[in-house]
Amino acid sequence: MLEVRDLEIRYGPFLAVDKVSLEVRQGEIVGVIGPNGAGKSSVVRAITGLVRPTGGTVSFLGQSTLDVPVHELIRRGLSLVPEGRGLFPMMSVEENLLMGGYSLTDRSRRDELMASCFELFPILKERRNQLAGTLSGGQQQMVAVSVGLMGDPQFCIFDEPSLGLAPIVIQQIGETLQKMRQLKLTVLLIEQNAMLASSVADRIYIMSAGRMQFHDTPDRLMKNPEVIEKFLSA
Ligand SMILES: Nc1ncnc2c1ncn2[C@@H]1O[C@H](COP(=O)(O)OP(=O)(O)O)[C@@H](O)[C@H]1O
Ligand SMILES: [Mg+2]
Repeated sequence: MLEVRDLEIRYGPFLAVDKVSLEVRQGEIVGVIGPNGAGKSSVVRAITGLVRPTGGTVSFLGQSTLDVPVHELIRRGLSLVPEGRGLFPMMSVEENLLMGGYSLTDRSRRDELMASCFELFPILKERRNQLAGTLSGGQQQMVAVSVGLMGDPQFCIFDEPSLGLAPIVIQQIGETLQKMRQLKLTVLLIEQNAMLASSVADRIYIMSAGRMQFHDTPDRLMKNPEVIEKFLSA
């Protein structure tokens, strides 16, 4: 479904992403983990056309995503829940959701999607008229996920959904990601939290210093002594 080949990204002379390849097949949840500064968000930005790579290819459903505007990628079924959530804090929960669904011309589909977000996160239904900026961090993350779902995607990218959240809320995020499976969504999950990623992902890539270092199932990675020493023994 998504294929990234030999991606290279430079910021001026700085090589942030060095020949990174990864693949996500339909129906999978794939994790990319790695420390701060590894280049994870840069890969996401290249996939979603926000950064122009200096090398390599990205294809989504067999078509290149490079130089494709974001609204066209949404139309093709790709959705991004960005790092830091990207909400409009001075708008209500419902208004934020409507922004996520702005490209839908079918109003009944839009209403249906909003209903399913409220089913996924009942607290958001209760707080639909509250300003997004006044919600707790965990609730804001629920709004961010809902905004992504309102684009009616087949494929969702989550960039560090657990960032800055309390352990109990991180657990809820894990449960939410599992629900993406029931919704038949394909997911690329970017995380620094290796435990969260390995509890939901089918396969995991480990990235550091701009390179893909390992790639395996979570079970096998968690038993790999080199992985444990380098990435899990913080
Ligand atoms: N716009 C930018 N200009 C210059 N350097 C950047 C920019 N964005 C990211 N970087 C650098 O690229 C590296 C990778 O960043 P990023 O992709 O955000 O990593 P991660 O998401 O894994 O934390 C870091 O060293 C970061 O400082
Ligand atoms: Mg990042």
